[in-house]
This record gives sequence, C-alpha cells and structure tokens, in this order.
Amino acid sequence: MDRSVNGEYFTLITGASSGIGRALAFECARRHMNLFLVSLPETGLEEVAAEITAQYPVTTRTLTTDLTCPESYLQVYDQARARGIRVNNLINNAGIGYNGYLKEMDPQKVDQMILLNLRATTLITSVFLKELTAYPRSHILNICSMAAFLPVPGKSVYSASKAYTLFFSKSLRAELRHTGVSVTAVCPWGVRTSDAVRERIQNSGVVSRTMAMDPEEVARVSVEAMLRRKSVVIPGRKGRLFFYLGQIVPQGIVLRVMENELRKALHE
Ligand SMILES: NC(=O)c1ccc[n+]([C@@H]2O[C@H](COP(=O)([O-])OP(=O)(O)OC[C@H]3O[C@@H](n4cnc5c(N)ncnc54)[C@H](OP(=O)(O)O)[C@@H]3O)[C@@H](O)[C@H]2O)c1
Repeated sequence: MDRSVNGEYFTLITGASSGIGRALAFECARRHMNLFLVSLPETGLEEVAAEITAQYPVTTRTLTTDLTCPESYLQVYDQARARGIRVNNLINNAGIGYNGYLKEMDPQKVDQMILLNLRATTLITSVFLKELTAYPRSHILNICSMAAFLPVPGKSVYSASKAYTLFFSKSLRAELRHTGVSVTAVCPWGVRTSDAVRERIQNSGVVSRTMAMDPEEVARVSVEAMLRRKSVVIPGRKGRLFFYLGQIVPQGIVLRVMENELRKALHE
C-alpha cells in the first residue's frame, strides 16, 4: 500500500513477522518510517503489514524467504532493486537461539543458527552497504543479546553468534566513521516474545526472570538508539546493572551463574 509521508526511503527489517521484529516494525511505523519487511513464508507477514498500514500512514513492502538459504541475501537485495525500494535503515533482527548442550544438539540446528545469526546478518549488511553509504544519513541496527557479553553454557553457539554480531557491529561502525552510516548493536536480556519464550523464561533462574522485558519496550529503546546513532545499548536498568556486575565478577562465577540460569529449562 502506498501512503508514504516519509519520503521515498525504507527501513528493512528481517524477521518481522513475530517477536521483537514485529514490535520493531510497529515502532518504526509509529515514527512514520516506510517498511520493507522480510520473514519466512507462511508466518503471517502480510497480516502484520496490513495491520501496520491500517494504523499508520506508511508504505509497506514484504518479502518472504528463508534467510538460511545460501543465496537469500542476494534475493533480498535484488527484490529491493527491482521494486525500487531505497533502503536507508537496515535492521538485522532475524535470529534463532536454540537451547542445548552442543554434544546433544542436532548439527542441522547448529548450522541454522550459524547461517541465520552470522551469515545472513553479515551478507545482507554487505550487499546494502554501498547504497547505505550513498545517503547523507543512514543506519544499521543489529539485534544482539546480553549473551554477546556473557558465555552461556547450554547456549554456546548462540552466545558465540551474538558475540560475533557485537564485534561485527563495533568494528563496522569504526570502518564507516567517515560516512553517513551509523551502526548500533542492541543487547537485550530475555524478551517475552511468545508463550513458549514466556514459559522458557519462567523456567529459567531468578536473574533471567528479573531481567525479562516486553518486545514493545525493547523495540522502542532499540529504534531510539539507532536514530540517536548510539554504538551499543543494553535495554533496561536491571540489564545494564547485570552487565556491569558481569564485568567485575570473575569469569568462573559468571559461567556458573549462567549455567544455573538455564539448567532447569535444559533438563525439561
Ligand atoms: N526473545 C529473546 O529473549 C531475545 C533476547 C535477546 C535477543 N534476541 C534476539 O532478537 C532477535 C529476534 O528474536 P525473537 O525472540 O523476536 O525471535 P522470534 O520471535 O523467534 O522471531 C524471530 C524472527 O526471525 C524470523 N526468522 C527465523 N528464522 C528465519 C529464517 N530462516 N529466515 C527468515 N526469517 C527467519 C522469524 O520469522 P517467522 O516468524 O517467519 O518464523 C521471526 O520473525 C533474534 O536475533 C534474537 O537472537 C531475542
């Protein structure tokens, strides 16, 4: 639907059909940003786009694709070109966080996490960079996690993937210092995105339960941070407090606390 009041530019959001991505889409629309929403097929992306255009005067475009497929990043880029979608904000949100000890995990699930969290994020950013640097002011927002700072036994690949995304964001930000592109990494603790995640948080330790936030609040903080061109943001006062504690407490203790947090959820 074409009802743009925010010029001809679009904000690309990956994983926009549910969870934090859906909340990010609503938050951007609330700020009159046109949207190019990407998600898996048959997950209600069209309905999300229709709900947004019913509420806000913005233009939405959608693309359903599996971002774990090797060529999907090119598909996203080619579709944007073919449909005249000019992307001045890129939000890499799509990500999977399977729980499990590596020795017990299905290697295909491990591969999916690597393909989506690392490969898709990196390559989508890489193909859109030329366009983003052509504009006087543009933004990249990468949704990381507190797990980027804290090694998490029982979520080793996920926490490593988020540490990658955090370092990718920080170094890319420095690389782009002399351009109009800013890069922001947001590192939330648990976010109550669905009934399953709510239950998982409920079955985690006291730290996870105390830190948990709603997706709308995380989306508000994230988009604000992106537009203010911040480098790294931890949503919520409690989340920030835990981050600082994690920096001063010996790593061995941090590892034990993190392991205890997930123990119950892992042994269900
Ligand atoms: N929830 C948390 O506690 C939490 C905490 C910190 C950070 N994060 C991060 O926040 C981001 C969003 O997480 P979330 O909890 O909102 O997850 P979610 O509810 O599972 O949503 C993930 C989104 O990514 C999409 N997606 C998944 N696999 C995909 C694929 N192969 N191709 C294209 N899209 C795909 C999903 O699309 P479909 O709806 O089509 O499946 C969905 O829109 C992730 O990067 C996650 O690591 C989450």
